[in-house]
Amino acid sequence: MTDLDPTALDPAAHDAADPLASFRDRFVPAPDVVAYLDGNSLGRPPALTAERIERFVREDWGTRLIRGWDEGWWEQPGTVGDRIGALALGAAPGQTVVADSTTVLFYKLARATVTARPDRSEIVLDTDNFPTDRYVIEGIAAERGLTLRWVETDPAAGITPEQVAAVVGPETALVTFSHVAYRSGWIADAEAITAIAHDAGALVLWDLSHSAGSVPLRLDDWGVDLAVGCTYKYLCGGPGSPAFGYARRDLLPSLEQPIQGWTGRRDPFAMAAGYEPEPGVRRLLSGTPPVLGMLPLTVSLDLLAEAGIDAVREKSLRLTDYALDLADAWLVPRGVTVASPREHDRRGGHVTLVRPGFADLLTPLWERGVIPDYRAPDGLRIGLSPLSTSFAEVYAGLAALRDLLD
Ligand SMILES: Cc1ncc(COP(=O)(O)O)c(C=O)c1O
Repeated sequence: MTDLDPTALDPAAHDAADPLASFRDRFVPAPDVVAYLDGNSLGRPPALTAERIERFVREDWGTRLIRGWDEGWWEQPGTVGDRIGALALGAAPGQTVVADSTTVLFYKLARATVTARPDRSEIVLDTDNFPTDRYVIEGIAAERGLTLRWVETDPAAGITPEQVAAVVGPETALVTFSHVAYRSGWIADAEAITAIAHDAGALVLWDLSHSAGSVPLRLDDWGVDLAVGCTYKYLCGGPGSPAFGYARRDLLPSLEQPIQGWTGRRDPFAMAAGYEPEPGVRRLLSGTPPVLGMLPLTVSLDLLAEAGIDAVREKSLRLTDYALDLADAWLVPRGVTVASPREHDRRGGHVTLVRPGFADLLTPLWERGVIPDYRAPDGLRIGLSPLSTSFAEVYAGLAALRDLLD
């Protein structure tokens, strides 16, 4: 940090030069919050969300009643899914749906892949993937008598193509990782890893929870088979908003997901005997579309469309660069370690700072209106949501952390 121009730390200069600065005023104000540094866990609500929910209850639900299902609600898993696909995933229409929770959709897609590869006996995953992914895969392995091939990943970095190449083989049915690691923010080389898995005849399922709405994705171009992700993080869908799931178009006919509900059936209103999956992406659905749950998402997707994912990524990198500069100037000399990649092409939208005893600082930080995320052991995640976060917030938040360390 010694060769850094001191004015480079001035947050006002960064905010003045930020082309997305005005988006921040379009989120619900939180007067007691000095620095919201947890946008990678729960995005803030756009102000328009409250009005849209109120209007939906009064007009759409209130007056259209059950007729609403014929006026767009029924199609929403696909229409909202396509919108996420176009704005955030690099996915052509007809491959993305919104449904379930990430955990449930992850289970459905992972289980479908092992059914599609019946003569293979192994699943490749890594030791530092988000717990729900690991637990679900452990459950599927137990259910189907499969062997898990664990890749040991560095919690301060993440999965590499070389590590994947070393474990995949003729027995690999499924390979699954997070694109952006929940702990370190490491961006995996999804294109290279997908190609390595394909060379071995395996399918790949990516968890995009920490990527979608923050890091541009090109699922179609990368040949990705399957993906899932949360919508309540950078996509600002609200607490517990439903997940999105992607399946490559040409793979769809061979995908049999295990929760055979009526919504995923061909011609569901025929109420016919026996399950026959819908030919397209709706075969990933199981039950009634979560129309109310998708509503906030439609508002925040409008903001993303207006800003554009490339501008979001550009600001995201500026924010994380700035957080790292402040960390180097103030926190590293106080015993803090940066446990995230420094290189732009490997760094997602959050950075993790590590120091023994950080757990004890969470309450005093919250008391000062500074809200980061804590991940055991000893990691403070600084999650910077580009549309709602200012450089002044990053400055204030890390200054509070510095003062507490003193
Ligand atoms: C990478 C990742 N996958 C999955 C989940 C959780 O999924 P769910 O919405 O089912 O709780 C999270 C939650 O933080 C996550 O970070």
